Amino acid sequence: MTTIIANWKMNGSHSTTEALLEGLSPVLRAAPSGCEVVLCPPFTLLDSVGRHLRGTKVWVGAQNCHQAREGAYTGEISPYMLAESGVTHVLIGHSERREYAGEDDALIAQKLQASHKAGLKTVLCVGETLAEREAGQVHAVVERQLKAVNATHFASYVAYEPVWAIGTGKTPTEIDIASMHQHIKSQTGGIIPVLYGGSVKAENASTILAIPAVAGALVGGASLDIDSFSQILHAAYQINNA
Ligand code: 13P
Repeated sequence: MTTIIANWKMNGSHSTTEALLEGLSPVLRAAPSGCEVVLCPPFTLLDSVGRHLRGTKVWVGAQNCHQAREGAYTGEISPYMLAESGVTHVLIGHSERREYAGEDDALIAQKLQASHKAGLKTVLCVGETLAEREAGQVHAVVERQLKAVNATHFASYVAYEPVWAIGTGKTPTEIDIASMHQHIKSQTGGIIPVLYGGSVKAENASTILAIPAVAGALVGGASLDIDSFSQILHAAYQINNA
């Protein structure tokens, strides 16, 4: 099984989404059964994307949620609300939330557990900063991020996204990706699919997806471009059929 998850981040209007989904329609409809495709638009577009995707095998995911079931948390959305709205997947602990929303391991653990309990498939994002990499702490950081949230029990997927590779055009070497994915697998009992994220593009998708222990990709910027994302999906479909 190869999983491709599109993280649109805080991008997209109703009109751009309409155009994007129209353009992607042929490739989304061609998803083979061994390939799982998930689109994670901002909250405001979840419903319309869900309606667009009806009749396809493509799933809808959210980029974040609150840890409580309901209550006086102005501006928040609970995992139960997402599940009720037809959302099947949720990203938890993305590095942009760790950095800009101050999410720490303790909060991420609560969100992960709550989403799992609500029946959502959880995508736990982990990865080191450039400073941590340069300090030789890559394995230690990722180990801490996995252990602190009990990933083995509550993560449906782990996405390894080195912070320095996000939106920069830089990617780790194939050897580095392979070794980190292997390490994450060994830390999580070997059964949780590990996706790679960080500057996945049409040009490198086939190479990255072919690396052993890479179960798929979490794609940011390139998922907003019809040609780029179509090519990434075709690369995934091909590997899956090989
Ligand atoms: P880019 O693909 O734009 O580097 O973003 C990766 C990411 O953060 C996906 O969650």
